[in-house]
Amino acid sequence: MQRSPYTPGEVTTFLPGRETHMRRLRSQMQLVADEGAFIARPRVFVGSRGVGKTSLLRYAQKAARERGLATVWITAGDADLLPVLSAELEKLTATWHSSAAQEITSLIRNLEFSLSIPGFGVSTGPSQRPAAVEAPGQALEALIAATARTLHKGGGGLAIFIDEFRTADHTALKALAYAWQHLRSQEGASVPATLVGAGLGHTSDVVTDAATFGERFEFIRLKDLSRDAAYEALAGPAETLGVTWHHSAIEAVLEKAHGYPHFLQLWAHAAWEAAGSPHPGGMITLGAVEASEDEVHDQLDVFYRTRWGKATPAERELLRAVAQQTSPTPRRADVAATLGKPTTAISMARRSLMDKGILDSPGRGLLSFTAPGFSDYILEHEGTED
Ligand SMILES: Nc1ncnc2c1ncn2[C@@H]1O[C@H](COP(=O)(O)OP(=O)(O)OP(=O)(O)O)[C@@H](O)[C@H]1O
Ligand SMILES: [Mg+2]
Repeated sequence: MQRSPYTPGEVTTFLPGRETHMRRLRSQMQLVADEGAFIARPRVFVGSRGVGKTSLLRYAQKAARERGLATVWITAGDADLLPVLSAELEKLTATWHSSAAQEITSLIRNLEFSLSIPGFGVSTGPSQRPAAVEAPGQALEALIAATARTLHKGGGGLAIFIDEFRTADHTALKALAYAWQHLRSQEGASVPATLVGAGLGHTSDVVTDAATFGERFEFIRLKDLSRDAAYEALAGPAETLGVTWHHSAIEAVLEKAHGYPHFLQLWAHAAWEAAGSPHPGGMITLGAVEASEDEVHDQLDVFYRTRWGKATPAERELLRAVAQQTSPTPRRADVAATLGKPTTAISMARRSLMDKGILDSPGRGLLSFTAPGFSDYILEHEGTED
């Protein structure tokens, strides 16, 4: 018996279909490490829930470490981001010799101080800017420059990773965008640093709203896997354990998962277990896939029901209208028309459903569900279940 090599709900290190992104990330880290380069455009991977953003970001972190860069990983959302970032940088520099560490500590205090000033920071009050005090963006710029340059003396550099980028607080987004904008034009030696993020599909709207420099970020959309990549995602992990998929079994799962990474893992894991967790030389047959069907359907039902449960009545109305469209990526205007409303009238519900990871905007003016099969679920249940 061998444990399933599939990873439903967990990040994975096997990333078929993401080769181009992985290659670019490797050369980006190499540039920072070998040439002390500053990567001027923060790269943010965006896409639907469960499409593989965190897995790719973890890969980027690994690539940075392999190049000898110091890495900081933050999952935004729980707390204000800048205090978390400065605490991570402080941890990083704790082992440094005293003068370098002292400089960083004083820059960190500076940043904390800028955050405590009403109008700038976390606590909002009347907007006053005492002349001698820096805004968080400036304080952050100085802190990152000093940290990265000191790291470079030891042959390294700084790589910052921010997951769930969309949920970062406004102050932090603004400060990060400001710092990155100004770090590129720093005088003297360049700052060996890079920032990579990941977030839901509409992250670009939120970042661009927060900071005018936001548009200088590079947003890269991760899509569902191509047929070849999905095939590889199923066959590859089994192969490393000496197990093969029968042709008909793999075809069945490809058909069911629609290239959506989360579903591929769910189906493959269930089929593996239904096949009796095969020994080397074993095979996953169509029978195993069929035997796992009830269990997977139960899980999918919970998956859809949870999402439906998170939607308010107004949001459900919008979801129903999206489900009724013939196109899988209907135009926002057509959805609004189905509801007999102007497009602006659905924008609040739309934004909220995007924040919840239920709807996505795959292109300008377009809408789609983030998971395949959700529209069938809504139509079958007529959206009446709670
Ligand atoms: N390239 C890939 N091939 C196959 N499976 C993948 C791939 N990338 C990720 N997965 C799988 O897809 C699922 C979702 O991955 P991950 O958590 O990285 O996605 P995510 O986009 O960060 O999701 P969320 O929006 O919920 O945070 C996991 O089960 C993971 O193992
Ligand atoms: Mg994630």
